[in-house]
Amino acid sequence: MFTRPGLSFLGSLGLLTLAVVLSGCRGNTSREPPVHLNPNMDIQDKYKPYRKSTFFTDGRSMRKPPTGTVARGQLRANTSLHCGKENSNDCASKDNVTYIEKLPIPLTLETMKRGRDRYNIYCAPCHAKDGFGGGKVALRSMDLEGVQAIKPPTFHSTRLGKMPVGEIYHTIAYGSKSGAMYGYRHQITDVNDRWAIVAYIRALQRSQDASASMYVKPKPAPPVEPVPTGTDGVAIPAGDGAMNGAEGGTPEGQTAPAKPAAPTPANAAPAAQPVAAPAVKPVAAPAPAAKPVAAPAPAAKPAAPAKIETK
Ligand code: HEC
Repeated sequence: MFTRPGLSFLGSLGLLTLAVVLSGCRGNTSREPPVHLNPNMDIQDKYKPYRKSTFFTDGRSMRKPPTGTVARGQLRANTSLHCGKENSNDCASKDNVTYIEKLPIPLTLETMKRGRDRYNIYCAPCHAKDGFGGGKVALRSMDLEGVQAIKPPTFHSTRLGKMPVGEIYHTIAYGSKSGAMYGYRHQITDVNDRWAIVAYIRALQRSQDASASMYVKPKPAPPVEPVPTGTDGVAIPAGDGAMNGAEGGTPEGQTAPAKPAAPTPANAAPAAQPVAAPAVKPVAAPAPAAKPVAAPAPAAKPAAPAKIETK
């Protein structure tokens, strides 16, 4: 008689307990490890980052690697390549250093293209695409600060023309000596990219500062018909710099006619005036498919030097 209601009471109590136990503390977070009946090696003592340690005397759980430790794949034994210096294992220092004078990577058309690409991204905002230093950031800082503004120097000065490639490299990586230009090693992480930029700066310098002695007489080309103004692929739009000479018409490795120094910064902006070069003869390109370009044609520009030397 008593048993029935008693059982059902106990039964529902049991069900209730089971429900509470099963639903547990879902949704609540806890720093305590869960109940783990057979821990094996699932749970081990360890330090979490930045936690205090009572074991080490300096109280830090995070340990410094021993001095001289090199991460895999990050050994920088080649100081020329990584620092731009002769025999120096202090990459950052600018004191008492001998910068290398010769590019430590092979100079290929690919390198030059990569250099132009990286230069236009990382350097042109200040140094300008033509290297004269009138980039947008520089102009803006002159607007804001007037004479106080620190201007990027032109790459077409004698001083920077003679600056060893290693020092240009070092400026890219660690900034200028005075610190007014910050280093770009964290943005341009690949050393080959930094060297590609150096190579491209040398080409920029050549594009503006060519001397008459650098002029290489073009080989006579077979007679061809003149082309109407800029209608075919031969015409090179102003503003695209020396590289186009190499791409359009001259096989890689072959010497193209050097462009005499232009009176204006020819590759400044896409809107730049075509270089009116009265002294320049129509370009006789050595490639058989190429045709001469009429010199004063608007938007056309004589082919620029394809041969780039870095010392
Ligand atoms: C934010 C603007 C800015 C950018 C971007 C910039 N520069 Fe500069 N650069 C300057 C200024 C300003 C100076 C002048 C610094 C000085 O006088 O110390 C300078 C100076 C230099 C110099 C001459 C250093 C010397 O010792 O006289 C070189 C070479 C140079 N930059 C190369 C580069 C290259 C290559 C890049 C691209 C990777 C680059 N800069 C990007 C602003 C910039």
